Parts: sequence; C-alpha cells; structure tokens
Amino acid sequence: MSDTVTIFAINFIATIGILFLLVVVVLLITGFILYRNDKKQTAQTIRRNYPLIGRFRYLFEHMGEFFRQYFFAMDREELPFNRAQRSWVYRASKNIDNTIAFGSTRDLRRPGTHYFLNCPFPTLSEDAASSQPSRIGPYCEHPYDAPSFFNVSGMSYGALSKPAVQALSHGASKAGCWMNTGEGGLSPFHLEGGCDLVYQIGTAKYGVRDADGGLSDEKLKEKAAITQVKMFEIKLSQGAKPGKGGILPAEKVSKAIADIRGIPEGQASISPNRHADIASIDDLLNTVERIRRVTGKPCGFKLVLGTTEWLDEFFEAVNKRGIENAPDFITLDSSDGGTGAAPMPLMDSVGLPVRESLPVLVNKLHQHELRERIRVIVSGKMINPTDVAAALCIGADFVVSARGFMFALGCIQALQCNKNTCPTGITTHDPDLQRGLVPESKAERVAHFHHNLVHEVEIIAHSCGASEPRQLKRHHAAIVMDGGNSVPLNIIYPEHQ
Ligand SMILES: Cc1cc2nc3c(=O)[nH]c(=O)nc-3n(C[C@H](O)[C@H](O)[C@H](O)COP(=O)(O)O)c2cc1C
Repeated sequence: MSDTVTIFAINFIATIGILFLLVVVVLLITGFILYRNDKKQTAQTIRRNYPLIGRFRYLFEHMGEFFRQYFFAMDREELPFNRAQRSWVYRASKNIDNTIAFGSTRDLRRPGTHYFLNCPFPTLSEDAASSQPSRIGPYCEHPYDAPSFFNVSGMSYGALSKPAVQALSHGASKAGCWMNTGEGGLSPFHLEGGCDLVYQIGTAKYGVRDADGGLSDEKLKEKAAITQVKMFEIKLSQGAKPGKGGILPAEKVSKAIADIRGIPEGQASISPNRHADIASIDDLLNTVERIRRVTGKPCGFKLVLGTTEWLDEFFEAVNKRGIENAPDFITLDSSDGGTGAAPMPLMDSVGLPVRESLPVLVNKLHQHELRERIRVIVSGKMINPTDVAAALCIGADFVVSARGFMFALGCIQALQCNKNTCPTGITTHDPDLQRGLVPESKAERVAHFHHNLVHEVEIIAHSCGASEPRQLKRHHAAIVMDGGNSVPLNIIYPEHQ
C-alpha cells in the first residue's frame, strides 16, 4: 500500500515538474518571439528601445483608467463626473438611503460652486405645492402640458442599445416625464413604454427625410399622428460637438438601425454639420413654422451657444413675425455636454458652458419680452439636485439629462460609448454585453432616479422658502467667485439687462 502511494506521489511530482518545465519553455519561446518582434518593429519607440518590458507601459496605461476610478481618484476628483456625483445617482436609482454623514466633502471655495440661500422660515411640508404641468406651444393645435421639470435628453437608438432605449421608455413613463428620441429617428423601442416623446430632427433628418435628404411633410405628418410624440425639436448643434453632425461608427450600424434611419447597414452614419436648408435666422424661423403647421405640435430647437450677439437679431425677427410664430422652446446645451462620439477639440474647447450661456439667454428673452412665450430647456451635467436647482434659479423652465439617466441604467463611466464595447450594455449592440441590461429592472431605476432628484430639488426649494422648485429665483442662490467668496446670482447676473 505504502509503495503504491510512493509511486503515485513520484508520478504526480514528475508530472507537475514536466508541466512546469513545459510552461517555462513556452513562456521563454513566446518571450523570445515578442522580444524579437518588438526590437524589429518600427511603429513604437518604447517597444523598440525596451523590447518586451516596454509592453507593460501600454498595459498599465490601459489599466490605469480602471485603477484610478476604483483606488486612487478622490471622491470629488474625476471628470466628467466624480464618484460623489455618480454615487448619488446610483443610490437615488436604487431608492436606497442617500443621506451622508459627518460632513460635506465638497470644496465650497471652488469658483463656480453654487450655494442656495436658505431663509429663516422654510416652507412647511403642508404649505409646499407640487409643480404643475407647464404648457409648451400655447398657439399650437396640440399644445403640450409637460408634467415634469426634469426629463430625458436626446440620445439616439444607435448611440444607445435596444434594452437601454426600452428601459428609458418604460422608466420615463413610470416617472411621468418626456424622453427625447435623439437624432437617430423613432424606433419601436421608444414607443414601447408609452412615455411622452420629443422627436428630434437632426441634420440628416432621419425618419422624416425625403429621397433627397430634405424634410418630408408626409413623414412629419406620420410622426405627428403618433399621440406619444408631443413635440418636435430641430437640432442645430450639441454641446459636445458644435458644428459637427452625428457620428455613428460602422460597427454600430445594425440592420434595425439602418432600417429606421434609411441608411446602408454596416457603414458609418455621418450626418452633415448643418441643416442644408437652414442657413439664416429666417430659414430657422421658417422651418419652425413649417414643422408646427404640418404637425400641429410645438416646435423648437436645440443648440449650444458660442456667440450670443445674434440672439438680439433673432428675437427681433421673432417679434416682427408675431409671437405666435416664435419657437415654442429653446433647448440650451452646455459645451461640456456628452455624446456617443466627437472629436476632442470640439468636446474640450468649443462653445459656452451653460453656467455662462443660460443667464445670457434668459436675460435676452426678458429683454425682448419673450420670456413667457419661449420655454427654456437646459442640459449639461445636471445629474444631482444641486445642479438642477441652480439651473431653475438662473431661469430654466425645464432641465434635461442624458448621462444622469445613463448612470441610472448602470453606466460606470467606462468612456467607451464610441466603441462597441460598453461593459454595461448601454451603448453597445453586442448581444453578449447587452445581456446584463435588463430593461424591466432598469426602468424602475430610471423612475426612482427621477423621483428622488425631483424630491431633493423640492427640499432645496423649501429650504429657500419657495413653495416648489419652479418658484426658485436668482436671489435664492449664490455662486463662488475667484477668491472663494460667493455672490448672489441676482447680483452677478442682474435680470432685464
Ligand atoms: C450617448 C449619448 C448620445 C447622445 N445623442 C444625442 C443626440 O442624438 N442628439 C442630441 O441632441 N444630443 C445627444 N446627446 C447629448 C445629450 O442629449 C445632452 O445634450 C448632453 O449630453 C448634456 O447632457 P448630460 O450632461 O446630462 O449628459 C447624446 C449624449 C450621449 C451621452
């Protein structure tokens, strides 16, 4: 018996030894081949100068993204969204306790930080009012009474996956807010949940184009006949890429997307950088009037502001035509807005952030007596209650968010929306990766995020003595200036200039 055990042990050790030797030999041979290849190749200096070992640089560079997020970055450090901002959304979406303990980790001296100016006698719960629906397009055949001040910003089916669009559609329906289709046209998945929809018309006019790429009245009527479609938005520009059309990489152009957009499958979908038929203020107003006349529904436009002087000429032209012909809303995007794919110089360095452009737009509307007529919708990194409340104080009527709702869907800020590799299934068409995103449970999260955000904006409003969020005004908030002191918004951005 003991001999058998000894023989077995010897055999076992010998087998392990041989296997180990084999692994070492394979590793040595692979290492030698890689070493030789690195030395010979001419594309990468580091690998040529430090064969084999230089490869770790590329590995660590890639892994650094993940290590920074999990281990090294402080709570308030990362961009575009830091851990504190993301965690608030995750907890709100899961509807779990979102209180924090001990003290704030927010640096309250940083220029641009908003404070709210609470009053000595806050609004009691029994005196609080709930926000009433706000009417958009009072002169339309079918005006829209938008129920919520917080809504889902434009993201196309294409940039987003099918389950992501489904989850947003069901979630928006549960939350009682609208969802913007983005410029990629209307898919059956947008309609699935039964939520209100804003149909966005991008420069390629996907879904409402005629054979020559122009706007088709017939297709507009088709879309307007869908009761869920409440408004039409002409997209002039977007904060992340002003002056650049939509980009959908070839690997994301599946058969379904190609059919909805009317483009060839498997080829990159690039829309023009401007509407071919909108080259002036008159063209823009004519198009707004045409869409509203044909559809009977409110129509406005989305843009990121750069220069602002032209707004005077624009609003003068509106008043000349009569206020019934005004755009029903303007959606103002921030230069630091998100996108599925954009060139870095445009994303980093073109356009104004809404912190600067929103007060200018609102003041110009006041100045031209159009403030009540044209609703202001704003977007740009407004994913926490503070940002939304600050935008309402400055003068926005509605806030929309894209990436806030992506976080609610489970986005981990992997920054891969432009590839087909999104690990959370939100911006990929790879069915294996989409598997993790279950629309039914994520729809709940979307609704919770919306509910909790609105609730906490209400808390801020009550603390300031306002009865509900829409009553927030500029004197209710202050912004930190260079040097660390804050100035009330009504002083720094006086109204009616
Ligand atoms: C994945 C993705 C896709 C987007 N697609 C569109 C689009 O089709 N049309 C559009 O006007 N904006 C699009 N946007 C921009 C958003 O609608 C929004 O204006 C911008 O991201 C700012 O909001 P946020 O900071 O809450 O994300 C997209 C953004 C993301 C992240």
